[in-house]
Amino acid sequence: MSKTILIHSFRHGVGRSTIAANLAFLLASEGQRVAIIDTSTKAPATHLLFGLKEDDMAYSFNDYLLGQCDIQQAAHNVTGHLKESLKGQIFLVPANTKSEKTARQLNDAQDALLLNTGCQTLIDSLGLDALLIDTQPGVSETALVAITVADTLVMILGLSKQDYQGTGVTMDVVRQLDVPRVVLIVNEAPTAFDFDEIETKMEQTYNCEVVAVLPHLDEVMALANKDIFALRYPNHSLTTQLRKAAINLTS
Ligand SMILES: Nc1ncnc2c1ncn2[C@@H]1O[C@H](COP(=O)(O)OP(=O)(O)O)[C@@H](O)[C@H]1O
Ligand SMILES: [Mg+2]
Repeated sequence: MSKTILIHSFRHGVGRSTIAANLAFLLASEGQRVAIIDTSTKAPATHLLFGLKEDDMAYSFNDYLLGQCDIQQAAHNVTGHLKESLKGQIFLVPANTKSEKTARQLNDAQDALLLNTGCQTLIDSLGLDALLIDTQPGVSETALVAITVADTLVMILGLSKQDYQGTGVTMDVVRQLDVPRVVLIVNEAPTAFDFDEIETKMEQTYNCEVVAVLPHLDEVMALANKDIFALRYPNHSLTTQLRKAAINLTS
């Protein structure tokens, strides 16, 4: 059974794209067939992580929303772009082919249906084991359209006051939307903190399973969203944590 996993957050810049790309890479290295849909049509980023150039993207998620292509035409096999041969496959639906192109965002019930159909088509036509959706953050209707397709919603948060409050509001809304499974990943925790304590506190605060507490690392920042951490640092403890999270989310 294929799993549709939504990577969501209250705000931009918490690590959604970074985590989605690493999870996809690690699942594919275990032999799974994985796709990522980047829905951030206004701020596309995931294609950079996989080294997919604008000129090599025939179509994007934006084109699909505009009715200019089928979802399969927007799905690019990026497995060969990685510097390592993988047992599985990774397909990427980039958010937008040209940054200057009018960005159409997910908006309403019609778009929810379009996204739903697109996900199902990709799962069936590509024989996917997992589909990851990199969302538009927040609690606006626009942000919540994508939530309706998820088997599992992963809420990414940092430890700032803004994340603390925003995540609380988002979780209240998400809980009314009938998502089968909702979990948390804390990202960019200062390495000096006690991670077990953070996990317990977050579980109690949000009454929700914490799948991972990931450290803030200069090595991640230094990649500047242009490479995949788990590929560059296969033996790092962060890679081990991400692999455990990937297995947890797809089992
Ligand atoms: N654990 C981490 N440690 C250090 N920097 C991180 C970490 N996770 C993400 N980043 C950095 O934070 C920035 C935002 O991450 P990104 O994945 O683009 O966020 P989002 O998709 O939520 O907007 C990027 O520059 C990324 O390299
Ligand atoms: Mg992003």
